[in-house]
Amino acid sequence: MKTYLITGGAGFIGSNFIHYMLKKYKDIKIINLDKLTYAGNLENLKSVGNNENYNFVQGDICDRDLVSSLFEKYDIDYVVNFAAESHVDRSILDPKTFVKTNVLGTVNLLDVAKKAWESKEGFKSYKKYVQVSTDEVYGSLGETGYFTETTPIDSHSPYSSSKASADLMVKSYFDTYKMPINITRCSNNYGPYQFPEKLIPLIINNCLKGKALPVYGDGMNIRDWLYVEDHCKAIDMVINSGSVGEVYNIGGHNERTNLHIIKTIINYLHENVDTSINESLITFVEDRKGHDRRYGIDPTKIKEELGWYPETKFEDGIKMTIKWYLENKDWMDNVTSGDYQKYYDKMYN
Ligand code: NAD
Ligand code: DAU
Repeated sequence: MKTYLITGGAGFIGSNFIHYMLKKYKDIKIINLDKLTYAGNLENLKSVGNNENYNFVQGDICDRDLVSSLFEKYDIDYVVNFAAESHVDRSILDPKTFVKTNVLGTVNLLDVAKKAWESKEGFKSYKKYVQVSTDEVYGSLGETGYFTETTPIDSHSPYSSSKASADLMVKSYFDTYKMPINITRCSNNYGPYQFPEKLIPLIINNCLKGKALPVYGDGMNIRDWLYVEDHCKAIDMVINSGSVGEVYNIGGHNERTNLHIIKTIINYLHENVDTSINESLITFVEDRKGHDRRYGIDPTKIKEELGWYPETKFEDGIKMTIKWYLENKDWMDNVTSGDYQKYYDKMYN
């Protein structure tokens, strides 16, 4: 029975990953370590709360004593680090918090895992640390070309620079100590349980509440969208079969402008929910500082080496996603109560 330490498992991708893994494997144990920041929500994991293969621990990845105690209590085989401050706009307002969690937290996890896993003979081959990183570390593309694993790191925002720094620390544990690691770099995810500070759930929520839809700049920035379950499948494959020390890019060639995404959501809701939801809600606002123009992943390596491919077409995934938010209005109301409004007013008013 393999034991996974999943960090940040109460957030968007982490909670989807825990659901994916507990559905797929009956013989694994998952320890979910999450600080429960504004972005962490145990509601996301309500249906697995009583699963005997799942344990939740509230705490900070920067807390050395706590992380060490988990390695003492459990025979951890894999660390999968999702824990992060993940929102670019917040990193522009407050870079330090990003450095603390994303860089120092990662180093703490690496160091405790190294101490627990290293022996005179080196590291056991079946142990692995997986860093869940992002395509944003590569910077911004022009109109052509894609990010490959050898594209130079050229991060721009405090968020992406903190993730790039963390990636380099993970790499250093492989290069220096031969600790078994992988780094995954994925494009923009969408799906259930995403916090409505991010484009897709924010637009769905604002449409349903009749609020303005804020479009940064000219709305022609491009992101490469991947359904979250396809990301979870890729991470599982990297844990099991990824070559130690390697980076894997994850993306499904689903490039869309922000305006295209927003209009797709408007059209669906106009046709299926309320005809008063229409393009008059679109409001162009000041551009994000240092806004990356285009992201596009070349997923050839993970496809050829591990046989991964994305199963969900964007046209299907976006409908499934909108339907999920329509069926889970209580979830949206809960996460947009409290401090959310303060954040929203600071950002958009
Ligand atoms: P999220 O913001 O939804 O969730 C982050 C989770 O980490 C939350 O549950 C939060 O409580 C927890 N957390 C934050 N600081 C912590 C700390 N110090 N100790 C313990 N837990 C802490 O983020 P997400 O969108 O699910 O992203 C997960 C990971 O995937 C991040 O590392 C992010 O950089 C990366 N990523 C995200 C995307 C995307 O499109 N969302 C794409 C590529 C990579
Ligand atoms: O590429 C992977 C990254 O994708 C992850 O590493 C990050 O954790 C994740 O947050 C996401 O970053 P983005 O900055 O691309 O996502 P966001 O949803 O914030 O914005 C998507 C695009 O939409 C971006 O070009 C900015 C624009 N946008 C966003 C918001 C919130 C708007 O035009 N209006 C908005 O209100």
